[in-house]
Amino acid sequence: MYSKKVLNHFNNPKFFGKMKDADLIGKAGNPRCGDLLTLYLKIDKKTNKIKDIKFETLGCAAAIAASDMICELAKGKTLEEARNITFRDVSNSLGKLPPLKMHCAQLVTEALNDAIKKYKK
Ligand code: FES
Repeated sequence: MYSKKVLNHFNNPKFFGKMKDADLIGKAGNPRCGDLLTLYLKIDKKTNKIKDIKFETLGCAAAIAASDMICELAKGKTLEEARNITFRDVSNSLGKLPPLKMHCAQLVTEALNDAIKKYKK
């Protein structure tokens, strides 16, 4: 059901963990499946780039793989560029998620946008 890439990111996530001194924290949850995701971002204030990013996800394999992938896609990008990452980008980068698991990719983009929104305020 899952691509090799999904399984790799699920089994060996590079960005899993908490960040104590995060500049931004974004959260998202899906009440239907109960999955919960927190993203931690460290921002380079001069360039507005995401210099570090981590996640904590309580959820299915697809949600964990998508969390790791969005971290990979967002790291090094400006907040503006990161805001344009779509759930399709996440799914495609994972070799496509099954249709029933697309909401897992949506969840991670929601968490990233939640964090970015807070920076603008
Ligand atoms: S099953 Fe809901 S986020 Fe994966």
